[in-house]
Amino acid sequence: MVGTLQTPQTHPWAKAIAKPGQEFPLTNLPIIAGAIPTGLQGSLYRNGPARLQRGEMKVGHWFDGDGAILAVHFAESEVRATYKYVQTAGYQAENEAGKYLYGNYGMTAPGAVWQQWRKPSKNAANTSVLALPDKLLALWEGGRPHALDLETLTTRGEEDLQGLTKKLAYSAHPKRDPITGEIFNFGMSFGRQISLNIYKSDKTGKIIQSTAIPLQFGAMVHDFVLAGQYLIFCIPPVQMKALPLLAGVSSYSDACYWQPELGTKILVVDRQTLSVVSQGETEPWFQWHFGNGYINADGEVVLDLVRYSDFSTNQYLKEVATGKPETLAPGTLWEMRLNPQTGKVKQMELVVNRGCEFPVVSPLEVGLPSRYTYMSASRKGVDFSTELLGAIARFDYETGTLTVADLGSTRYPSEPIYAPDREHSDRGWIVTVVYDSQNDTSEVWVYDSDRLDAEPICRLALPSVIPFGFHGTWKSR
Ligand SMILES: [Fe+2]
Repeated sequence: MVGTLQTPQTHPWAKAIAKPGQEFPLTNLPIIAGAIPTGLQGSLYRNGPARLQRGEMKVGHWFDGDGAILAVHFAESEVRATYKYVQTAGYQAENEAGKYLYGNYGMTAPGAVWQQWRKPSKNAANTSVLALPDKLLALWEGGRPHALDLETLTTRGEEDLQGLTKKLAYSAHPKRDPITGEIFNFGMSFGRQISLNIYKSDKTGKIIQSTAIPLQFGAMVHDFVLAGQYLIFCIPPVQMKALPLLAGVSSYSDACYWQPELGTKILVVDRQTLSVVSQGETEPWFQWHFGNGYINADGEVVLDLVRYSDFSTNQYLKEVATGKPETLAPGTLWEMRLNPQTGKVKQMELVVNRGCEFPVVSPLEVGLPSRYTYMSASRKGVDFSTELLGAIARFDYETGTLTVADLGSTRYPSEPIYAPDREHSDRGWIVTVVYDSQNDTSEVWVYDSDRLDAEPICRLALPSVIPFGFHGTWKSR
């Protein structure tokens, strides 16, 4: 059920999500410090849950907030930004009603229990974005994407990519091959049979091939890996209590439970044929996100991921929405080697023993050998259970070095996004949206990707606070 408003918020960072994010139209951003690098030409797009309450009603989980997109356009020496809610049908109906009407990932719909089964979930459109040549997609893993105007972020409506029927979902972690431009993604179907639907699109986003793979279990498949000619899925042992969910007495989040004795299932799929190459099973863990994957000289798949010992991270993320998390659930960066022909894990190694999330690589290296993984990281000495990740970092797999951008105890950077330099393909910039809890403001910071431990190259002021979000992307001009 929808909870009641909780006050006061105890953590300074909680101010960023205590009020709904305020939209603004295309606006020139003033430079606070530094200068915009000339090679930084393109757009940053970021998505996240921007509204966590309506009236006295609060969402049940951080994942339930209505999605709003931030676009920051870097063109020549000018930077313009806009921030808009995705105008989903559910958002518009609730806006009209002035209250929540629908259930979502972590909340059941308000109203009588016996009427729950009749109420659809709302597409929150709040998780990530995919920039196509002629549109931006707002992604949410429980449904179809929404198409928006690349410049103004005006919502055009639900998008089927010429292959998604109304009931099919298109997840929030598509992978784009930097050489062919092909886009791979998946979506889960839950019915009598759990199915993993895999999609291959051309560079315009049009779905040109798809398949459905039946799964024995897998209530929570959030991300996957493109590694050379393979797509790799690690399916954690999260099961779902179907009856309370179908009856509408339990939210999806509450229906999920950890069953470690099932182990983690590995699924290797051929990217050409979309057929299963191998399946394996290994020790239990949970991951939301992978960094990257590639094939090494021995023909093995090498990938990295942020690994959790169980599913308690879901409880922590639920509590974040209240501003008072208390569950200890740190994730750390691991590297895995896998035989793609057998699905057997050959090595699983902890590489960064520090709380982290949102591992990313340069978009030019997705599926290919990559030396660096960038991530959000915890500041040294902080309490994992009550704090958010307060730093960004880069791990160098060649030297084993972690370089950290520590923004101080009152600033919170978003997932670091790698923007390739337009003039020099071997260098790039890290763009992050920073919430300053002392001044209650948000800024855009640009770092030289090779100098995260130096001052940012440029800082730009945003007109309003951008509530903490999940994922973004960079679209080069
Ligand atoms: Fe994600």
